[in-house]
Amino acid sequence: MSYELRNTILKVENVSLKLGNNQILKDVNVEVKDVVRPGLTQGQIVGFLGPSGIGKTKFFEILAGIAPADTGQVLLGDPLTPVKIGRVGVVQQSYPLFKHRTVLGNLMVAARLKGIPSGERKDKIVELLSGFGLENHLNHYPAELSGGQKQRVAIAQQLLCSDHFLLLDEPFSGLDILMIEKVCEMLRSISLMHEHNTIIVVSHDIEATASIADTLWVMGRDRDDKGEPIPGSRIKHTFNLVERGLAWEENSMAKKDFHELVNEVRGLFKLL
Ligand SMILES: Nc1ncnc2c1ncn2[C@@H]1O[C@H](COP(=O)(O)OP(=O)(O)OP(=O)(O)O)[C@@H](O)[C@H]1O
Ligand SMILES: [Mg+2]
Repeated sequence: MSYELRNTILKVENVSLKLGNNQILKDVNVEVKDVVRPGLTQGQIVGFLGPSGIGKTKFFEILAGIAPADTGQVLLGDPLTPVKIGRVGVVQQSYPLFKHRTVLGNLMVAARLKGIPSGERKDKIVELLSGFGLENHLNHYPAELSGGQKQRVAIAQQLLCSDHFLLLDEPFSGLDILMIEKVCEMLRSISLMHEHNTIIVVSHDIEATASIADTLWVMGRDRDDKGEPIPGSRIKHTFNLVERGLAWEENSMAKKDFHELVNEVRGLFKLL
């Protein structure tokens, strides 16, 4: 498959974090490059995996500029500049929406925050919501939506007010298999909306994540001579799914190589 890796659009340099006496992250270094495919608009999707408690959410907060690191920095965009709050859309599990505002009202706030001219806001929102199958819910309040619908509104909201970067923490948890497929489809289509759209998905669902990602990051710790984990996690393994012929394909999950990859990642978890 013909593709090219161009400029670095996300760069994490030597990020470390200690909480109390607990070294959570140590010298995390990782980057995302703009993937370019001739004749296509192709964004990036990174699947971010790792055992429970390893530091994914803490790293995610630093990536989004919500929490500071003790050392190091996160740079974003083209050209690369330091992250700050608002540049990265963050979709957490609680999907915080204004309860007293309708779907349209919630998204109008996001569009205003982003500085979209007032005359263009509504059209842009309606177009976005149609893409998410929510065109009939414009005037509904969050309490009138299902969990999956709320999640899609929250994603639309974050897309509207951020800068091409979207982080999702556990977007598949609590969803049935069909809903997981729908969310996967939606994330795929968001990644095709703009060359720089970059989605990072934190998840325990290795299959679903690998089915949409072009890259997988696995967070873990090093071990000492006795095999004991050394405190301080980093991105220990990176998988390029494009090279393995497993990215950007509707039916990648049916491939033998896909199952081998999932097993390989699963095997790594025991050693992290
Ligand atoms: N305030 C704190 N003080 C000390 N340690 C903390 C604090 N908050 C979190 N931790 C520790 O930081 C580590 C990383 O937590 P984090 O929430 O990032 O894990 P995670 O990889 O997202 O896990 P999960 O997959 O279960 O969501 C955990 O081991 C946790 O015990
Ligand atoms: Mg977490």
